[in-house]
Amino acid sequence: MATSSAPGKVFLLGEHAVVYGEPALLAAIERRARVTVEERSDGGLRVDSEDLTLDGFTIEYGEDAATDPNVDVPQNLLEAATGYVDEAVAQARDAADAPNAGFEVTIESEIPLGAGIGSSAAVVAAAIDAATRELGVELDREEIADRAYRVEHAVQDGQASRADTFTSTMGGVVRVEGDGGHSIPAPELPLVIGYDGGAGDTGKLVADVRSLRERYGFAADTVETIGDVVDEGERALDDGDVETLGELMNADHGLLSALGVSSRSLDAMVWAARDAGAMGAKLTGAGGGGCIVALDESDESQTALEYTPGCEEAFRAELAEEGVRRK
Ligand code: PMV
Repeated sequence: MATSSAPGKVFLLGEHAVVYGEPALLAAIERRARVTVEERSDGGLRVDSEDLTLDGFTIEYGEDAATDPNVDVPQNLLEAATGYVDEAVAQARDAADAPNAGFEVTIESEIPLGAGIGSSAAVVAAAIDAATRELGVELDREEIADRAYRVEHAVQDGQASRADTFTSTMGGVVRVEGDGGHSIPAPELPLVIGYDGGAGDTGKLVADVRSLRERYGFAADTVETIGDVVDEGERALDDGDVETLGELMNADHGLLSALGVSSRSLDAMVWAARDAGAMGAKLTGAGGGGCIVALDESDESQTALEYTPGCEEAFRAELAEEGVRRK
């Protein structure tokens, strides 16, 4: 039996634009997905999940088993969750050269699904690490990140960037651009997250931005401008200047709004945090609903978010220095 965990993440700056080769800055956060894998001899696959959002489900499927599990969760979330696990298992079988290996997979996640804080990337990175170790193979982080990206790419119909999977695998603060990424030193970041309890449709939001960018020069310019904001943000991190980072997060949220990916509840949470004195606040991830991230050393933003209609949960997020790891 092998257990691995991997952290969720926030985009400090740069979501959506990263899909078109612009840079992005992300931070891994101490909310983890933990995946336990045990090899089984019959080649079948059984997945148990105790996920905050999925309420817990069990799916069993082997070569002849029904592929349509009888569980009481929204079909799109179920398809997404099972798709990620299927593809992660395929990557592990491939890496270990064990095409017929079967597994019992148990997922426990502290990360809300589809909320922009990297639940699927964390599950995938942890599943690949645990399943390959269970088969006696140790992959280095670069290979785990690359295989996790291929999983997201396949499940999200080619719409995913490397941002989530790279951050979850490496931990810390990272810059991702195109096919590459690297860790960057950063000052302590007082991250506060607000969650509206919902989930945006990443595939649709990415497709909508793509279409806007093709139709309007302003949208193409906005994507490039986000890249410039990210470069400024990296300089601010380098200088240990968290206040400037906050200012740039505010600007980035405005640019993302111009691209049409914010929502009423995300805007309400962003403004609640700003009014409470946050250095900056923006949506994180695809948008449409889900989470915002704010920078605030005091408790004011978290308290204000807790009283904001439409905010279901607010919490402080510690930086996860370690990415994917045993346990
Ligand atoms: O909502 P998330 O955490 O899956 O983030 C999506 C971020 C996008 O930039 C919109 C797409 C991507 O794959 O980078």
